[in-house]
Amino acid sequence: MTPTPQVFDAFNLAGKHAFITGASSGLGAHFAKTLSAAGAHVGLAARRLNRLQDLADEINGAAIPIAMDVTDQTAIEQGLNAYFQAVGQWPDILVNNAGIADPTGFLDAQEDQTDAVFATNQKSVFMMAQAMAKRWIDAGKPGVIINIASIAGIRAMGGAASYAASKAAVIQMTKTQALELARHQIRVNAIAPGYFSTEINQGFLNSPQGEALIKRIPMRRAGDYQDLNGVILLLASDASAFMTGSIVTIDGGHLCSSL
Ligand SMILES: NC(=O)c1ccc[n+]([C@@H]2O[C@H](COP(=O)([O-])OP(=O)(O)OC[C@H]3O[C@@H](n4cnc5c(N)ncnc54)[C@H](OP(=O)(O)O)[C@@H]3O)[C@@H](O)[C@H]2O)c1
Repeated sequence: MTPTPQVFDAFNLAGKHAFITGASSGLGAHFAKTLSAAGAHVGLAARRLNRLQDLADEINGAAIPIAMDVTDQTAIEQGLNAYFQAVGQWPDILVNNAGIADPTGFLDAQEDQTDAVFATNQKSVFMMAQAMAKRWIDAGKPGVIINIASIAGIRAMGGAASYAASKAAVIQMTKTQALELARHQIRVNAIAPGYFSTEINQGFLNSPQGEALIKRIPMRRAGDYQDLNGVILLLASDASAFMTGSIVTIDGGHLCSSL
């Protein structure tokens, strides 16, 4: 069936502002391009400013690079304020995407790396969402938060003890944030991707173990970045106006498999 023009209009983000953390590579850079292609102005946040500048040049639209460490509360406040100063308004959409992995089994995991995983993947989502939501509430403005979780936060996964636990925390935070913020017209949902080749995992995915894992995914492949376009546009736009607290898995059926 051919979609009606109204269906396309629902995904139009013209005039909206989206702030994406972890935009210097992988999924975050792709989310920024997708939201920009739908008409949004984008704030590109990460530590590697040269990468963000390159992406802003590639997008060739309204894109503001913001050097920011998401584990640092002061940097978060400064990053959001810098975006406001640059464009004269708060973002309408926050994508909490920055994340790191620690491919270490539970018995071998070290305290410093475990702390880094939780600070980047979990605490940053807490701090970013809180800083953003307070600004929206003070301004009397509705907002949308999209947290990037993982199927590792849902299914048991060997060799990534802290990563999997941090993503389970993101899922639960998404639900509690949704519960507390709905009265302020702030919607909070999460995407739980399966395997997509990026800097975080390409070493593993190219290994014999990684290739064997991909064969066990019901759709027999890793995700293409384009596979995420529909869900990011759905959650960012008014097309999901009555969705909050939802966790959307995009994994080629991986969670359906018990292997
Ligand atoms: N790829 C997958 O298969 C997969 C599956 C499920 C979930 N995810 C999630 O998707 C998200 C994006 O990961 P990716 O796969 O695209 O990996 P990636 O290419 O390694 O990207 C990670 C991003 O996070 C940023 N980042 C890391 N630490 C940061 C910090 N302290 N402050 C600010 N930014 C920081 C990095 O930028 P800088 O280094 O420049 O700061 C980079 O832009 C992560 O949350 C990941 O857990 C990925």
